[in-house]
Amino acid sequence: MATKLKHHTDYEQEFELIVMMHKTGRFTPAGMLTLRELGLETLGSHFQYGMNYLNAKDSVELDPVSLAFGIDGDNKKNLRGNKNVPAPGLLVFGAVRDAAPDAWGRRVIESRLSAPLNGLPESTYLRHVGGERIGALDFRESLDDTTPAKGAVSIHRLQYLIEAADRIDQGLPIPTSLEDIFDAGTSLGGMRPKVTIADDDGVLWLAKFPSQGDRLNVPMIETATMWLAKDAGLDVPEIKLATIGDQSVMMIKRFDRRYVQASDGMQVHRTHMVSSLTMLGCSEDQSRSKNYVEIADMIRGKAPIDKVKSDSAELFGRMVFNIMVSNDDDHLRNHAFLHSMGKESKDGEFREQGWQLSPLYDVMPRPSIGTDRYLHLGVGMQGRLATIGNAMSMHGRFGLTQASSAAIIDRIWTVVREWETYFESYGVDGKQISLISPAFRHMDVLR
Ligand SMILES: Nc1ncnc2c1ncn2[C@@H]1O[C@H](COP(=O)(O)OP(=O)(O)OP(=O)(O)O)[C@@H](O)[C@H]1O
Ligand SMILES: [Mg+2]
Repeated sequence: MATKLKHHTDYEQEFELIVMMHKTGRFTPAGMLTLRELGLETLGSHFQYGMNYLNAKDSVELDPVSLAFGIDGDNKKNLRGNKNVPAPGLLVFGAVRDAAPDAWGRRVIESRLSAPLNGLPESTYLRHVGGERIGALDFRESLDDTTPAKGAVSIHRLQYLIEAADRIDQGLPIPTSLEDIFDAGTSLGGMRPKVTIADDDGVLWLAKFPSQGDRLNVPMIETATMWLAKDAGLDVPEIKLATIGDQSVMMIKRFDRRYVQASDGMQVHRTHMVSSLTMLGCSEDQSRSKNYVEIADMIRGKAPIDKVKSDSAELFGRMVFNIMVSNDDDHLRNHAFLHSMGKESKDGEFREQGWQLSPLYDVMPRPSIGTDRYLHLGVGMQGRLATIGNAMSMHGRFGLTQASSAAIIDRIWTVVREWETYFESYGVDGKQISLISPAFRHMDVLR
């Protein structure tokens, strides 16, 4: 049943939400988020950490920019008792924005609440996200509210979820029999139709569906491209391609969940996760003016010490792969970071905590006839120009030498230049191969 919409006022209101952080298998209150709203407009927000949370040695910083603990927890004292505000230029904290729905999740919530397009205030969107939102955060209206909302649906409902997602994509109402899309469809961000599903072992997957107006079999091509990236040595999560009727579905394993065998059964641990939009303290409209080198610089400042080298090299590899396959949707939300606890020292404090690059996701080649191609993010000295020469131009900022960056390019090119053979071996049909072919480039135009 659709819930009735609250009446939205034309005077300023404050909404308080308890922010929960998942730590070693269960949710703990981390502090209080206050959102200021005027009707549909967000005016600002602040966040106050709870004392118990700040005092605990195994607590995780909520936001890496404006609520950061510092590498050895040395900033915790500055956060104590404060009404901390987001980074300059942001109305809500980056980490909160990442845990809120994006275009697709908003459409599902609007369908559930019978609301018009973008017709709800941020506090309402935030509260209606499914319980399996990315990372380790959750938002509650009261402390008595102990269980998170449902956020995943059984894999056996996939066929019905596709039907429901298709109806939402077309702006059609959802019948009662398909209402579990409201649980499964709001947990994750992004534009495309997707749901969170649980397999028979309770393991969570993100299932990405076809969308109205696709000219290609997007789930099939995205799956094949991710497998290609894996064969080229990039860090790719487990991915499966399912076929439901005549539709393809890409299933990617959630990398922000870990499964730990406890005495009373399997425990699910959540890892805090934020986008690089948040890591760089940016607003959405600043994304296009940012570049890979800035992400690499940030890795040097914020990654656990033993990850700096490997994460920077992996980032360079991803940029090169995106150039070779013309993935120009490589915006800052499509690069994420997972929080790592670092090492527990003798006094029980966790030192060298940090943010490490997440596995790869959302890589889709774009067929194009243009000779000069550009990525979304800046690549090198020639801005966003998608060439290998441009990628090489700033290799030092990725901690790479001329030789080591050339070796990464070589390793990736050896696989990508044979993409057609790989795609055939993955079972991609000839029609899809010819439709996607203009996305893949020849080395002579890449230089
Ligand atoms: N394997 C995964 N594990 C955990 N979170 C994931 C995973 N894959 C994607 N996500 C999260 O879900 C969000 C949406 O996924 P994705 O980027 O693939 O969707 P999309 O709709 O294609 O996005 P876009 O709007 O950028 O085209 C990502 O921004 C990321 O936060
Ligand atoms: Mg995306």
